[in-house]
Amino acid sequence: MKINGQPYRTIWLKAEDPSVIHIIDQRRLPHEVIIEELRSPEDCAKAIREMYVRGAPLIGATAAWGIYLAVLTRGITSLNEAAALLRASRPTAVDLFHAIDYSLSCIAGHSDSEALAVAQQAAEALAEASVAQCRNIGEHGLEIIKAIYQNKQGQAVNILTHCNAGWLGCVDYGTAISPIFLANREGIPVHVWVDETRPRNQGANLTAFELVHENIPHTLITDNTGGHLMQHNMVDMVIVGTDRTTRNADVANKIGTYLKALAAKDNQVPFYVAAPSSSIDWKLRDGLKEIPIEQRSAEEVKYISGWDGQAWATVLIAPKETPAANYGFDVTPARLITGIITERGVCPASEEGLLELFPEHKL
Ligand code: MRU
Repeated sequence: MKINGQPYRTIWLKAEDPSVIHIIDQRRLPHEVIIEELRSPEDCAKAIREMYVRGAPLIGATAAWGIYLAVLTRGITSLNEAAALLRASRPTAVDLFHAIDYSLSCIAGHSDSEALAVAQQAAEALAEASVAQCRNIGEHGLEIIKAIYQNKQGQAVNILTHCNAGWLGCVDYGTAISPIFLANREGIPVHVWVDETRPRNQGANLTAFELVHENIPHTLITDNTGGHLMQHNMVDMVIVGTDRTTRNADVANKIGTYLKALAAKDNQVPFYVAAPSSSIDWKLRDGLKEIPIEQRSAEEVKYISGWDGQAWATVLIAPKETPAANYGFDVTPARLITGIITERGVCPASEEGLLELFPEHKL
């Protein structure tokens, strides 16, 4: 997608120097576009842990390049250690584990001299698969937006989203935002309610940035506004992404997603989850009991960072001694979800629904 009219992906191998992976440092958006260099699996793990990169599909892509850099810098004997380091970087997004497992399985059985090319192919294949999945999610979600637009008498379709599930959280296109990008390109009037998404403000910093650069009408709202808007018929649909979806379609996503789903149910607003297959954990059946929920630093809640017009500034917004809790994700039970938008189509939020689209996961 575009920044200042120029197309970007979120991660790529530096063309002139294959020992360097480039990423956009998301901690600096929307005020600065800084391209960072990753040169080792440690760099990749740090970029994931400290959220230079974030969003489930992008975390997966970064981990795959981390495996490539491990082979490049230390050879295949270092792989177990590098994989363990990357696995420990963040717990909730299952794409991370899928990507590491995929790269390791591709490399298995290859000699040191072959492994580098194989690891590069695996990382590139994962990135390309992610782009294709997101593009297809866009096409399927677009049909839902079109159907809603037919009853809007020419008025814009109002879509609420939480966190950032746009191209910045993926390799390109995004998951929840992909249908919105495509609708806008087709000339369907859309307007996006962007939850700011405390405490890291992915909505304010990232989703709003994406929408500005794609010229899509949007309004930033505080996290608690959605219920009020739904009560007043100001939301036609909700689309969110997912970090891990179980085989029975329980969905872990950014903290606060569950409350949006409850409000949507109470107000008969359709609530969709855009889930590439890379984010589906076929081993789990009960999201509440089984999905590991990341807890991050209390400092992220007590301090807020922003741009003072010239530089970044961080300020304390609570008493210094006040304890804070920072749960990164919550689980929305399948019963609150209208449908899951995958790269293969849209299905009911249930095991049967997902298996219709992904029969290879039938037990
Ligand atoms: O903590 P984050 O910013 O990595 O959380 C990201 C989300 O919750 C996204 O909605 C999710 O990864 C969906 S797809 C990009």
